[in-house]
Amino acid sequence: MKLDLFLLAAAGALASPYHASRALLSPVTRNGSSLSVDGAPWKAVGPNIYWLGLDENVIPPAGAPFDPANNASYPTKERITEAMATVKALGGTMARAHTLGVSTGNPLSVWPDLGVVNEQAFDTIDWAVYQAGRYGVRLLMPLVDNYDYYHGGKYNFLRWAGFNLTGDDSTNPEIQQFYTNATIVASFKDYIETLVTHRNQYNNLTYAEDATIFAYETGNELNGPVWGDEDCPAAWVQEIAQFVKGLAPDKLVFDGTYGINETHLAIEEVDVYSDHFYPVDTTKLQSDIQAVQSADKVYFAGEYDWVGQSGGDTLQSFYQIIEESPAVGGDAFWSLFGHNAPGCSTFVNHSDGFTLQYNNPNNTAYTTSRIELIRQHFVKMSTGKEISLNETLPVVPCPAPVLRRWTSSY
Ligand SMILES: *[C@@H]1O[C@H](CO)[C@@H](O)[C@H](O)[C@H]1NC(C)=O
Ligand SMILES: *[C@@H]1O[C@H](CO)[C@@H](O)[C@H](O)[C@H]1NC(C)=O
Ligand SMILES: *[C@@H]1O[C@H](CO)[C@@H](O)[C@H](O)[C@H]1NC(C)=O
Ligand SMILES: *[C@@H]1O[C@H](CO)[C@@H](O)[C@H](O)[C@H]1NC(C)=O
Ligand SMILES: *[C@@H]1O[C@H](CO)[C@@H](O)[C@H](O)[C@H]1NC(C)=O
Ligand SMILES: *[C@@H]1O[C@H](CO)[C@@H](O)[C@H](O)[C@H]1NC(C)=O
Ligand SMILES: *[C@@H]1O[C@H](CO)[C@@H](O)[C@H](O)[C@H]1NC(C)=O
Ligand SMILES: *[C@@H]1O[C@H](CO)[C@@H](O)[C@H](O)[C@H]1NC(C)=O
Ligand SMILES: *[C@@H]1O[C@H](CO)[C@@H](O)[C@H](O)[C@H]1NC(C)=O
Repeated sequence: MKLDLFLLAAAGALASPYHASRALLSPVTRNGSSLSVDGAPWKAVGPNIYWLGLDENVIPPAGAPFDPANNASYPTKERITEAMATVKALGGTMARAHTLGVSTGNPLSVWPDLGVVNEQAFDTIDWAVYQAGRYGVRLLMPLVDNYDYYHGGKYNFLRWAGFNLTGDDSTNPEIQQFYTNATIVASFKDYIETLVTHRNQYNNLTYAEDATIFAYETGNELNGPVWGDEDCPAAWVQEIAQFVKGLAPDKLVFDGTYGINETHLAIEEVDVYSDHFYPVDTTKLQSDIQAVQSADKVYFAGEYDWVGQSGGDTLQSFYQIIEESPAVGGDAFWSLFGHNAPGCSTFVNHSDGFTLQYNNPNNTAYTTSRIELIRQHFVKMSTGKEISLNETLPVVPCPAPVLRRWTSSY
């Protein structure tokens, strides 16, 4: 099977300038509460890597595209490739990546302005999708953010429609116009269409065709005007999920509402429901899994504090529940950074205290033991194998190899 795929990839290389002009990964499918690939069970485990499309932690060399108002710039291809190699070294199968799907309102975005397409923004996104596919890492992309950050979100669509609102207006009931105003919903769908129909310059597949992108999420942490209200109208969730599946029938759709809103569980087009954990909370985890399982859908822990800085239950107890619950499709910790490649002498840091820097020699013994625990969990979820906690973390070279062909192992 592996050999056949490799030969097909090689044959593709002869026929076109692309090394493999067909989708080499099969789509992820859902049956009730389980996910599978080619009939075999599949779990989505990996990091959040929000910066793959557009970053705000590195000041680029003079002359490179840069947005000084937000310190935003495109990450280097070497940083992106190293991130994919690191997902594999961690035993991961996927990454959740905000800026591969959320890219609006910044001069460097896919849509800097309403309906205006900036082709340059696709270079890093295309590269991330291409290298992810070659490393065998699948991608989950939120389509809009609840907040008013450098990479864009619902406030861009509100302002484009004439609603003068910023993140400071998060409690203003007018923000619900993002979900309810037909003009805004239509412009959001246009944006989704720009993204999903885009053809990748590195593998000549549209994002709709490329099974590397196994799922789109309707958004990140979507709420209404009251913090934690989960007030993202079910009708909107359904309309967006239908639209995504109309353009890309092989994708799964995640409900991007922040938390499990039980009134959404019956939406036919939604496959997966998720929540985020700051801190880790096993009681909430268990009751949410129960609710989602009862609806015959898949549960996913989309973000959590792997460091333990918010307190809460232990990561071990969280992982044990996830491993023992068949309706859990997987989990993604927040969040992975790598070297400032191609320089490779230092690691990129982010200010939230949740930065995981794989194999940084400066990591404390505590940090290393947490990373070993994550890897043990990911390996168990993705292969069923139990590895020792003190197994040495595999080395990821920096720069990491660019993979031009499909490979089953790194
Ligand atoms: C879906 O899962 C059910 C059991 O939950 C099984 O009976 C059925 O055959 C599965 N369908 C497919 C298409 O695999
Ligand atoms: C941009 O980065 C510089 C240097 O790290 C920092 O001093 C400045 O505050 C940052 N600006 C923004 C808008 O974050
Ligand atoms: C929707 O937004 C448009 C502005 O783009 C506005 O003219 C219209 O009144 C809004 N619709 C509703 C129902 O508020
Ligand atoms: C937008 O709102 C801000 C703050 O409320 C206000 O200062 C500004 O004048 C408004 N702009 C427009 C175009 O209405
Ligand atoms: C890319 O794919 C399109 C659509 O299948 C096809 O028309 C085109 O020839 C391909 N380009 C290359 C260089 O293979
Ligand atoms: C859930 O979503 C519905 C709309 O679909 C909304 O009315 C409700 O406020 C939301 N929140 C909760 C906690 O149910
Ligand atoms: C480790 O810490 C030292 C001292 O702060 C620093 O100079 C060095 O760059 C760090 N190494 C890495 C790989 O980040
Ligand atoms: C990385 O950022 C965190 C949070 O701001 C900070 O506590 C930590 O000291 C930083 N690490 C380095 C090596 O600068
Ligand atoms: C590794 O951990 C196992 C228990 O998980 C222990 O038995 C073994 O002694 C440890 N090995 C080393 C080299 O620390």
